[in-house]
Amino acid sequence: MWGGRFSEGPDAIMEEINASIDFDKKLYSQDITGSKAHVAMLAHQGIVSNDDAKAITDGLDKIQDEIEHGEFTFSRALEDIHMNVESRLADLLGPSAGRLHTARSRNDQVATDFRLWVRDTMDTLDLQLAELQMVFVEKAAEHAGVVMPGFTHLQSAQPVTFGHHMLAYVEMLGRDRGRVRDARKRMNESPLGCAALAGTSFPIDRHMTAEALGFDRPTANSLDGVSDRDFALEALSAASICAMHLSRFAEELVIWSSAQFRFVKLSDKFSTGSSIMPQKRNPDAAELVRAKVGRIIGALNALLIVMKGLPLTYSKDMQEDKEQAFDALQNLSLCIAAMTGMVKDLEPNKKELKKAAGSGYSTATDLADWLVRNLDMPFRNAHHVTGSLVAMASERNIELHRLTLEDMQSVEPTITEDVFTVLSVDKSVRSRVSYGGTAPQNVRKQAKRWLKVLEKD
Ligand code: ARG
Repeated sequence: MWGGRFSEGPDAIMEEINASIDFDKKLYSQDITGSKAHVAMLAHQGIVSNDDAKAITDGLDKIQDEIEHGEFTFSRALEDIHMNVESRLADLLGPSAGRLHTARSRNDQVATDFRLWVRDTMDTLDLQLAELQMVFVEKAAEHAGVVMPGFTHLQSAQPVTFGHHMLAYVEMLGRDRGRVRDARKRMNESPLGCAALAGTSFPIDRHMTAEALGFDRPTANSLDGVSDRDFALEALSAASICAMHLSRFAEELVIWSSAQFRFVKLSDKFSTGSSIMPQKRNPDAAELVRAKVGRIIGALNALLIVMKGLPLTYSKDMQEDKEQAFDALQNLSLCIAAMTGMVKDLEPNKKELKKAAGSGYSTATDLADWLVRNLDMPFRNAHHVTGSLVAMASERNIELHRLTLEDMQSVEPTITEDVFTVLSVDKSVRSRVSYGGTAPQNVRKQAKRWLKVLEKD
């Protein structure tokens, strides 16, 4: 494609380090769509003839067909997807194929193709995340009143409801989707027509190609258009945060499904056995979701580091943007799908959850609140009294509600029998009715609200 100035071909190692076709062939359909939009615009502007444009468009359609039927031979010598397609077009049409590259460079071409891919992938992720939110909401509604331990420091803190815990993830995923959509809005500008870096002297219409490719507008500065990759960085950072959320739940599933916790049962479909230990049901899918966040954040780091020292405009360094982004965003998609399957089949073990909810003096705060409400004690004093009662129960190795009224009165003489009404875990969660609190009635309301939001999406 540039033979004019060269007398020797590339070294084999040069070809190996330089070629991107092994991974950027993934962009074939974006590349062909972009080329078709470009040539239609060139014809519309009278820069190429209608006949040439028609022949080029038909040729591109044929190439797409060949690729999709596995009849296309990709060549490393042709470096990347852009030159592979163009070279095949030249086989098909002869020299007139060369008119396609008028007023265009691979720099704006690759920026356009990659943006289209990232944008469309973000749309898919958004849909997938909505589906995942839906299965969490359904679980929440189904188990709104199921009591479980709430933790801080992974120590029993206060009883909460299983539904409330599910809805916590619906909120996180809602913000993840906000970030995905927000990034998509910002990235939806067309670099096509920036040409190599400075724009072109041909009378092109960048608004026309932008519109044809579903972009909101062309990028306003050609130097920026060819050399910015912050659209990919934003996508990867939204992906990293989302993957981190998935990883937290994955970690909970690993803990919860262990024989020591027995809080939930993961379905067979998302567990594996051991080749030696017959009793095993391992949460492999959850573990892999937990692990994959590593490569996703890694991709964000890698691209930030590639970009941070590059002077404007294009440098070949930027070819390193694709592999990592492809890998990260595809793996996120896989994680969301796996998580959706796991949540759909997830069975909480109500008996174990309730038992665990009551252990670890989880209703101590309810006892302190009772002292505040009924004895008009300042909360700090109530905290102290309750602490002494917990110490007493702990010494005897019994639960709080197993202390007698006399035991209680030995610490605080004005405590009455009524105190025992707040020591049950059910009472505890039912009383947490403050906005955003864990009470089953709140959970039901929030689940309904989310159902409406998701149905409208
Ligand atoms: N394969 C290249 C990339 O992915 C395409 C752009 C090449 N442009 C150039 N001036 N060498 O970045």
